[in-house]
Amino acid sequence: MHDIRGDEDIKTLVHAFYDKVQEDERLGYVFNDYAAVDWEKHLPKMVDFWSNMLFQTRRYNGRPFRQHMNLPIEKMDFDRWHNLFEETVDEHFEGVKADYAKEMAAKIASSFSVRMEMDGKFDN
Ligand code: HEM
Repeated sequence: MHDIRGDEDIKTLVHAFYDKVQEDERLGYVFNDYAAVDWEKHLPKMVDFWSNMLFQTRRYNGRPFRQHMNLPIEKMDFDRWHNLFEETVDEHFEGVKADYAKEMAAKIASSFSVRMEMDGKFDN
């Protein structure tokens, strides 16, 4: 196993991760049924997002939180999302960048969750 070294590796990670997401009972519903995500667009965008995160390529400069504000998700869905992300990284890579990707994913998932909570988005 090696670390995440560049675009090819990020592609591997992103594609493997969203394969898992689509198979997940709850997350699969949100992406495919509720949001009807166009994967041909979403996957390259997520590759750009992670490329910017890990290698500061500036290929992504969006504001992702907005896209999540009105999704039918709960706090525990962020845990599911993050568990799958961590599992996918660990299945393919190890090293400093791999650790950083997991750390950033955890931080962003947690910040989305806190922001939604503050906006009163969760039912519980
Ligand atoms: C329960 C957890 C999550 C769900 C269900 C979810 C779902 C979605 C959906 C449905 C979209 C819109 C896709 C489209 O219509 O093209 C999206 C976009 C996106 N998500 Fe998530 N997401 C989750 C967590 C996260 C986290 C933790 C991150 C960051 C680490 C993230 C990063 C992004 C980015 C960068 C976009 C693209 C936004 C843009 O268009 O600029 N998501 N997500």
